[in-house]
Amino acid sequence: MCGIVAIVGQTAVAPLIVDALKRLEYRGYDSAGVATVAQGKLARRRAEGKLVNLESRLQAEPLDGNIGIGHTRWATHGVPNETNAHPHFSNDVAVVHNGIIENFAELRTELAADGYEFTSQTDTEVVAHLVSRELARGAGPVAAAHEALKRLEGAFALAIMFRGDEDLIVGARNGPPLAVGHGEGEMFLGSDAIALAPFTNSITYLEDGDWAVVRRGSFEIFDIEGKPVARKRQQSLGTSFMVDKGNRRHFMEKEIHEQPEVISHTLAHYVDFTASTSRPLDLPFDFARIDRLALSACGTAYLSGLVGKYWFERIARLPVDIDIASEFRYREMPISQNSAALFISQSGETADTLASLRYCRKAGVPIGAIVNVRESTIARESDVVLPTLAGPEIGVASTKAFTCQLSVLASLAVRAGVARGTISPDEEKALVRALSEAPRYANQVLKLEEQIEKVSRELSHYRHVLYLGRDTNFPLAMEGALKLKEISYIHAEGYAAGELKHGPIALIDENMPVIVIAPHDRIFEKTVSNMQEVAARGGKIILITDRKGAEQATVDTMETIVLPDVPEIITPIVYALPIQMLAYFTAVFMGTDVDQPRNLAKSVTVE
Ligand code: F6R
Repeated sequence: MCGIVAIVGQTAVAPLIVDALKRLEYRGYDSAGVATVAQGKLARRRAEGKLVNLESRLQAEPLDGNIGIGHTRWATHGVPNETNAHPHFSNDVAVVHNGIIENFAELRTELAADGYEFTSQTDTEVVAHLVSRELARGAGPVAAAHEALKRLEGAFALAIMFRGDEDLIVGARNGPPLAVGHGEGEMFLGSDAIALAPFTNSITYLEDGDWAVVRRGSFEIFDIEGKPVARKRQQSLGTSFMVDKGNRRHFMEKEIHEQPEVISHTLAHYVDFTASTSRPLDLPFDFARIDRLALSACGTAYLSGLVGKYWFERIARLPVDIDIASEFRYREMPISQNSAALFISQSGETADTLASLRYCRKAGVPIGAIVNVRESTIARESDVVLPTLAGPEIGVASTKAFTCQLSVLASLAVRAGVARGTISPDEEKALVRALSEAPRYANQVLKLEEQIEKVSRELSHYRHVLYLGRDTNFPLAMEGALKLKEISYIHAEGYAAGELKHGPIALIDENMPVIVIAPHDRIFEKTVSNMQEVAARGGKIILITDRKGAEQATVDTMETIVLPDVPEIITPIVYALPIQMLAYFTAVFMGTDVDQPRNLAKSVTVE
């Protein structure tokens, strides 16, 4: 889950590479490095920690050279320090790598026996030595790279540069994404089009097994056998935005506040607000004819799918199998030919989600992708792309992508209900009208900032938190806990409220705040009983509810956050905001790195 960039340029490339790496920092940020070739010498600067450290290193010791490669790292093999930072060198070869070389231990033993010395703990260094050994055996740079690639197993995107050739970079892809950017008398490689956006929007994506020979005035792509292959050149949409916090302290804060607008954009793609109908979709399957729907995703995207299950089953009477993608891909689930599969992913690059998609592809079922990055691998490998129109999400913790995923899933469930005849035209209208209200209610929730900030100050004094909810608020409870733990590092768990007495209740005492998500719905009373069980054991309750719920909750709470009364179908969308805000403000009080929390990365392209 690292980010890589390479430039065969006309001017000094080191500052340009750092600039491009900044747009890839979402992929990892525990160390970074740049290497160039100038005056026949290979040189590099590397630094532990964020890119600012590399920038200061380069200011103190600049690098010349019109050709270079760069890397921002999310550690897999070896701790995040300067020695393990990329680029890795072996004699005349420099390499940056994203992914995992699975047979690295075997290759390392073999290369060490041949006298190659390893200076890092990474799997990447074997690639540099492999290429170097081929050069030493008399191969030219391109042939040396090709021979080395044939030995690699696992997932990789690579850029390889040579001291002896200032007009050559070899790129390769097997798994993690890699794009070639076409310039005027200069060429680029990058983990995504966004990284290359300031340089070019003319992009060719490599496919799995491809490797490319990139020079200032030309590029060629080959398959692993070395046969030339043709790949489409396309205009990327990546230039159309600026990565900018506006007047907010953090990207996460900005993205939370963008939700009314992006939810509205997303919904407008799937429903007609004027006619209050769901829009017909050009799907590779017919909702009326399938008997099951498989959903698969990771993390927050998985939790959106879990909410989706309730909607599809309730509104369209369509049974849904939902799995965490890392389980789905190995559990050898029998897939009915009369089903369809949907994969949910903000980045569209998550390795486990992609592997689940390929499993379903082999099983021959039609595939749809609910993705935010329309040019991503998952989007490209699907039969239909169902976009979330959240815009670029930079904060590592997913916020607006989540509510946009929910918006797509709710709209699809309504569409499925129409197709399957489980809802009448009047019910469709009522549901679409309810959905169209979501942006307005989301806006109202943002106004509760002051109260939520106050509760968060209190929360930041605790080490453990429980989240409870029933029905669609159960996945939301898990999302609340995930958000809180990933950015504030407070240990949090989300449970179905009815499960409390089957174990977690043992944890309840005055040191364990319990956040209960409970709009006044048909099962509100059940949740009130669970709150009473908590209160009876000295637990402190933070209740997130609506006006009626606040009036009827017969328990003492530490705080009650009262949201607007909203139609049932949009509660998960509207109630997502206070849980995001609670996590955000708590993290701010804890003084953590909100946008780039420790150990995480935005795009998870390894298993
Ligand atoms: C949590 C979060 C992650 C992602 C997960 C899947 O805030 O962002 O749990 O949801 O890594 O990523 P995508 O959606 O890119 O497949």
